[in-house]
Amino acid sequence: MVRIGIVGLGYWGPNFERTFDNLPQSEITAICDLNEERLQYAEKKLTGVFASHNFDEILNRELVDAVVISTPTKTHFELTKKALEAGLHVFVEKPLATSAMECQTLIDLAEKYGLKLFVGHLFLYNTAVKKMKELVGNGALGNICYISSQRLNLGPIRQDVNALWDLAPHDISIILDLLDRSPVSVNCQGLAYLNKNVHDVCTLTMHFEKKCMAIINVSWLDPSKTRLMTVVGEKQMATFNDMEPLEKIRVFNKRVEAPGYSDSFGEFQFSFQYGDTCSPWLNQVEPLKAECRHFLECIEENKHPLTDGHNGLEVVRVLEAADISLNNHGQMVKIADIKQFAAIDATNGSLKDCNSSERKMK
Ligand SMILES: NC(=O)c1ccc[n+]([C@@H]2O[C@H](COP(=O)([O-])OP(=O)(O)OC[C@H]3O[C@@H](n4cnc5c(N)ncnc54)[C@H](O)[C@@H]3O)[C@@H](O)[C@H]2O)c1
Repeated sequence: MVRIGIVGLGYWGPNFERTFDNLPQSEITAICDLNEERLQYAEKKLTGVFASHNFDEILNRELVDAVVISTPTKTHFELTKKALEAGLHVFVEKPLATSAMECQTLIDLAEKYGLKLFVGHLFLYNTAVKKMKELVGNGALGNICYISSQRLNLGPIRQDVNALWDLAPHDISIILDLLDRSPVSVNCQGLAYLNKNVHDVCTLTMHFEKKCMAIINVSWLDPSKTRLMTVVGEKQMATFNDMEPLEKIRVFNKRVEAPGYSDSFGEFQFSFQYGDTCSPWLNQVEPLKAECRHFLECIEENKHPLTDGHNGLEVVRVLEAADISLNNHGQMVKIADIKQFAAIDATNGSLKDCNSSERKMK
C-alpha cells in the first residue's frame, strides 16, 4: 500500500483525489492546499486524512511515501525539490519545471536519493496515443512527413503561464513519443491579447531531422473546443480526435505519389491515391487511472516511469526554446542553445520567468 499526499486541490487536483482513493494499491493519507475552502472541501470526502495549508507539514515519511503535486507551474520546482530532499517519491504535473536547468536539478536529486520522479504527461497513458504510436512504429503510415496538432478552447485562462506552457506540453510530449526523437530547432509566434504579458494563442513549429516537422496550435481564446492531431505519412495519414467519443483514431489510406524524374514540365504530375478509411478498435481505459496505477507500480515494483524526469526535461527544453523564439518575433532557436541559456540564468543567480520578455537572443 502506497501512502499518498496530494498537494494542490484546485481544478485538476480533485481528479487525483478521486483516482488514488479508488485504487486498491494506494491510500490518501495527507492533503495540502493554501486555500482554506478547497482544503476543507477535500477533507470532508476523506475520513481521517491529515490536512494542512503548509506543504512542509506533509513532508513526513511517517505520514506519506509519495506526494502528487498539482499546483501552478511556477511552484513545481520548489515543491518537488523539497519533497525529494525529504525522501519522498514525487508525481508532478506537467510541465516538470520552468527551465531545463531546474529539470536537471530534480533528475539529479531523484537519482541521488533513489526516488521516483514521475511527470504527468497524461496522454502517454492514453490508448489512442498508444495506437497512433503503434501505427507510426510498425511503418503502417510510412515515413512521417509532418504532424499538426490543435488544442483550442474558450478558457480556462491562466495568469501564471501562457497558453504555450499550459497547453502545449501535451502535444509536445505526444509528438516526441511518436517520433521517438527531439527537434533540432523550433520557432514560435503568438498573441498576448487579454493580458499584455501572457500569450493567449501560440503557434509552435518544431523542426526534426530527416525532413520532418510538427506544428502545434494552442489557444484559450477560441470558440470551439478542438483536440485534433493529424499525422501525415508517405504511405497513409491518420488523425487522433480526442473530441470523438468512439472513433478517436482514423486511418486514411490516402497519399500523394511524386513522379519519377522528368525534364519536361508536362510530364511532372503528382498522382493522388485514395483508399479506405478505417477506425481501429481501442480498449478505452481512463488515462488518468492508467497513469496513477503506473506511478504506484513504479514505487511498489521498482519499475522505471514511462514519463520520467528525462521525459519532462525534453518537453521543457522545447518549451524554453519556444519561449525564447516567442519573445524574439518567431526567430528560429536551436535546442542545443538552450543549455547556453540555462548557463546565463545560473550566472544571474535567478530563474527566469517563463513568460519573460527578457529572454532575448544574444
Ligand atoms: N494533465 C492534465 O490534463 C492537466 C489538466 C489541468 C491542469 N493540469 C496541471 O495541474 C496543475 C494544477 O492546475 P490547476 O488547473 O488545478 O490549477 P489551479 O490554480 O486550479 O489549482 C492549483 C491549486 O494549488 C494550490 N496551491 C498553490 N500553491 C500551493 C502551495 N505552495 N502549496 C499548496 N497548495 C498550493 C492553489 O491554492 C490551488 O488550489 C498545473 O501544473 C497544470 O498544468 C494538468
